[in-house]
Amino acid sequence: MTKQKVFVTRLIPEKGLNLVREFCDADIWPGEMPPSREELLSRIRDVDGVLTLLTEKVDAEFMDAAPRLKVISNMAVGFDNVDVPEATRRKIPVGNTPGVLTDATADMAFALMLSAARRLPEGQKYVRDGLWKTWHPQLFLGADFVGATLGIIGFGRIGQAVAKRAQGFGLRVIFCDPTAQPAFGASSVDMDTLLRESDFVSVHVPLNAGTRHLVNVEFLAKMKSNAILVNTSRGGVVDQSALFDALKSKKIFAAALDVTDPEPLPANDPLLELENCLIIPHLGSASKYTRDMMSFLAAQNLIAGLKSERLPNCVNLEVYKA
Ligand code: GLV
Repeated sequence: MTKQKVFVTRLIPEKGLNLVREFCDADIWPGEMPPSREELLSRIRDVDGVLTLLTEKVDAEFMDAAPRLKVISNMAVGFDNVDVPEATRRKIPVGNTPGVLTDATADMAFALMLSAARRLPEGQKYVRDGLWKTWHPQLFLGADFVGATLGIIGFGRIGQAVAKRAQGFGLRVIFCDPTAQPAFGASSVDMDTLLRESDFVSVHVPLNAGTRHLVNVEFLAKMKSNAILVNTSRGGVVDQSALFDALKSKKIFAAALDVTDPEPLPANDPLLELENCLIIPHLGSASKYTRDMMSFLAAQNLIAGLKSERLPNCVNLEVYKA
């Protein structure tokens, strides 16, 4: 049987790539950078499936350029880069990779929280700059975890995994998510209470029209002056200009961001000047095992779609309704 054609937009880990190669006639983009839009649209002209990353905008123009498209498999749990309603209208199933990255992402939220609380980037810079002369009782004093309050916004898989870790650190945990039940010792509160009481605020919501710039001037104004904001979700959830003002004026103590808008941040972005803003390059799921598993799930979704079977992880199940 002839293999169906697919385009894979980057060199994903072998675990997924081998599966794709076994079942598909695969065109795999080898570059470190994503294909240009023009290149992307020309490569998908006669494909039956695509395996995309969060760097690709999968919109109506993309789908128009690939008239045979039977499946969109996005190697991420988030899918804000895909116009899902448009895909649904065209009866194209969209796959994502939930579950396998929960622990790695929760670990990263914790790493960011600890780094910002204990001022690790400032400490490292100080040592590297040759400024470390002696042990000093007042050097880089940071925040404690035991007895502090962690507020989790969005209490899905990752938010709950953060709460589970927080138990071991002696944090009191509250969360705001009208769709979730209490778990791991965390209690449900409204947003105002969460912002008023939290020493750490960690954001775990998907990016959509309702969450874009959720962290805005009003939100930041309600936070405590010692509070640390952690974002491992999507950059668009934070109004970065409001965040800059809050950090610069010390309205809040610090922020630690795994995600920004845009990615990467331009070299002259004002957030990069701030010592109380830790920024890393979207590494939440970046562990070897996690990326292997994400590539594997993405390959499984792709292959199921090519066979016209239900994707193991489908974000628009409506496509299967008659
Ligand atoms: C990464 O950000 C993902 O959504 O998987």
